[in-house]
Amino acid sequence: MHEEKILVIDYGSQYTQLIARRIRENNTYCEVLSPESLIKIKNLDNILGVILSGGPNSVIENNNYDLPDLLFKKNTPLLGICFGMQLICKKFNGKIQESTSREYGKAKLEIKKDVPILNGLNKTLEVWMSHGDSVTEIPNNFSVIATTNKKSLSAIKSNDREIYGIQFHPEVTHTLDEGKIIYNFVNKICRSKGEWTTKNIIDNQVSHIREKVQSDHVILGLSGGVDSSVAAAIIHKAIQSQLTCIFIDNGLLRLNEKEQVEKGFKDFKNIKIIYVDAAKLFLGRLNGVTDPEDKRKVIGKTFIDVFERESKKIKNAKWLAQGTIYPDVIESAASSENAHLIKSHHNVGGLPKDMNLKLLEPLRELFKDEVRKLGIELGIDSKLINRHPFPGPGLAVRILGEVKTEYADILRQADDIFIKMLHEKNLYNKISQAFTVFMPVKSVGVTGDGRSYGNVVSLRAVKTIDFMTAKPFNFPFEFLEEVSTKIINDVPDISRVCLDISSKPPATIEWE
Ligand code: XMP
Repeated sequence: MHEEKILVIDYGSQYTQLIARRIRENNTYCEVLSPESLIKIKNLDNILGVILSGGPNSVIENNNYDLPDLLFKKNTPLLGICFGMQLICKKFNGKIQESTSREYGKAKLEIKKDVPILNGLNKTLEVWMSHGDSVTEIPNNFSVIATTNKKSLSAIKSNDREIYGIQFHPEVTHTLDEGKIIYNFVNKICRSKGEWTTKNIIDNQVSHIREKVQSDHVILGLSGGVDSSVAAAIIHKAIQSQLTCIFIDNGLLRLNEKEQVEKGFKDFKNIKIIYVDAAKLFLGRLNGVTDPEDKRKVIGKTFIDVFERESKKIKNAKWLAQGTIYPDVIESAASSENAHLIKSHHNVGGLPKDMNLKLLEPLRELFKDEVRKLGIELGIDSKLINRHPFPGPGLAVRILGEVKTEYADILRQADDIFIKMLHEKNLYNKISQAFTVFMPVKSVGVTGDGRSYGNVVSLRAVKTIDFMTAKPFNFPFEFLEEVSTKIINDVPDISRVCLDISSKPPATIEWE
């Protein structure tokens, strides 16, 4: 389907996905592959170029990652970043030295040669380094094109081929090249036509969905999150009334969630959304369950039961649509190949197994920012598109211990006040995820002339790029005071508001 693409080979760098996103920002399709998959590739037709990522390993004694000869058969442009540069040097018999200390952090890069990959850059610029081993002797027929103040050989180029190695990280924003290095590689060296645009992605997907689905019916679990909403929107554009969305209210959603979804899709003519109120069933099954993982399991199973029951009512349903996005695909591939990368997968309510439905995943190739752009272009209300992520088990992992309807009601009100005030004070978009947590403990307070005895809630707000690590958001004190007062005044069952200032790690973002 993709006429041209760039490959990013993932040697375990924490920045691999960032490299891929930078390429996509240049309207160019790219795929992330493991080194094992690279070895299996038979030809490089349609491959505009290849980027080798950094990684935690050393090339010195490790031969596992030798580059296949195929990469060098045609003059396919190649860019090695850090570990990737060391792999290139090893392949062409340069020298790499183990070092006892890492060169980590900012460094000043001095450009020595005017070559396409460095076009448009100042002669000196700040770059971000993070490497242990260093190249001490470059291979024959390569030239140094830039060095750092520490005199390490920071960028090299083959004299007669489009093969580049750089020892710093152009993909991170701490490298002050304004994205020009990746831009140059993608556009000037790989000569991408830049056809990976939102409009083209939509057009391609729409015809692809039509081709696949024909006259069948598709069902989709709509959660109100960005991914399922955008999946619904694009499938609706392709097949309109052949799509039915099922929105399940499990009693653990935020305040007015259903209304938000209705509003989000108000401009979608004739979109079929079935709203199912299953709060009683979910909360009944959660009765007495206190362990976080058990709660997740109960909710996941109940979701499948309800979804199955509802979807059986839809005649001719042959497809189940899901909002799987590219990071989910990369992460599950990586975790099956490299055991040390395994991270728990959060999605609640996977596939009802015995339904015999075929899977339709129109967002499988897209990063979150691309999904958001698609959503806006397709006409979903931008408020829905720009919402913070919300976990599948919903408020159940924000109510510590046993979940009760009354706790969920209290939490919904407090959380709504917090989130609304974040919008009012223009803080919402500066935060990656914010929410309120309910603690089933009581604390004394004074309201008016009387003594109150209410519950405690905590505010949680973090900044993060990938949700794997996160920092607490630094609130102005006045904001905290104001929101705390409003919550205690407006929600009679709450007597105290705390603030969670833990980073991830060692804490997690959710409390359970
Ligand atoms: P943690 O708490 O693991 O959260 O630091 C990282 C991100 O994942 C979300 N999260 C979940 N999402 N089902 C989901 O769909 C879950 O069970 C779940 N647990 C955590 C969390 O909101 C944050 O964005």
